[in-house]
Amino acid sequence: MQQRVVFLGTGGTIAGQAESSQDNVSYQAAQIEVGKLLEAIPGLRGQLRGALLHSEQVFQFNSKDLNPCHWQQLQGRVVHYLSQADVRGIVITHGTDTAEETAYFLARTVPEALLCSKPVVITCAMRPATSAHSDGPQNMVDALCVATTEGAHGVLLLCSATVHSALRVQKVHLYRLDAFDSGEAGPVGVVEEGQFRLFGAWPELLETVTHRSLSPQAPTKQDWPRVEIVTSHAGANGASVRAMCAHTAQGDSPLRGIVVAGTGNGDIHHDLAQALNDAQAQGVRVIRTSRCATGSVVLAQPNDTDPKLFEASPLSAVKARIALMLELLD
Ligand code: SIN
Repeated sequence: MQQRVVFLGTGGTIAGQAESSQDNVSYQAAQIEVGKLLEAIPGLRGQLRGALLHSEQVFQFNSKDLNPCHWQQLQGRVVHYLSQADVRGIVITHGTDTAEETAYFLARTVPEALLCSKPVVITCAMRPATSAHSDGPQNMVDALCVATTEGAHGVLLLCSATVHSALRVQKVHLYRLDAFDSGEAGPVGVVEEGQFRLFGAWPELLETVTHRSLSPQAPTKQDWPRVEIVTSHAGANGASVRAMCAHTAQGDSPLRGIVVAGTGNGDIHHDLAQALNDAQAQGVRVIRTSRCATGSVVLAQPNDTDPKLFEASPLSAVKARIALMLELLD
């Protein structure tokens, strides 16, 4: 059976257009269809290792504007294609800004039975497709290389020839082409001249959740539990948390959770902590993480259950928010 690699387009700078080929800043993201991006890559067919190419535009957004319904729509297409015997792997073209959130969501919600033998490679670009020095085409070719590599599986993110796991990856630079980092864990591997080099082992699959609400009957935006993120800092206070708890604007769903990006080891300014304690007493789940780019919150004792400390998550704030939303979904 001839195998297929499926490219799913979702928007981003990789599909961006500027008026001048010298302009890498004032461009419109999410303008060009993924099929057209593929057609513009010279010699792409030679990289297919005998597989056929298939593409689909799932949606077309600047990734800052995505919401959980978009993640769910994309998850549905990923499950659809991975379930087909002839599909070898999937490449998703995506904006860099929230690519790590989509990666984590997919890693948690695409069934393990599908991810254990096939890869989903998210790729992106820091310069628009119209740039004289666009990085998107090379990233797409490199992502194709990973998607067709023997043994590749799980949800991965490729940028600037470097492959990261969905769990670890974080955007760390707002301009450089090599904009992502995996912190202390380091990347999964690199692509060099059309060959993928694995540094250690493929990342372990995350524990997937299969909720009733992730069935093909997509929930509406309101069905997703509302979880907000607040940051602790010098001079932080509880005003925004009190406002969030008090105010449920027309059309907003009730607040179900707050993730705090704390200072250092997930510490929280005492004024903010007081408001969070009050929120928790009203039934809002509070999770603390750290605003530091690297490291995970270290608990004083392994089974620390002091309510004043709030539950801690080893994830970044944006990923802890997704984890909590999934937990609250049932
Ligand atoms: C986006 O995230 O969609 C825009 C920015 C980017 O792709 O770098």
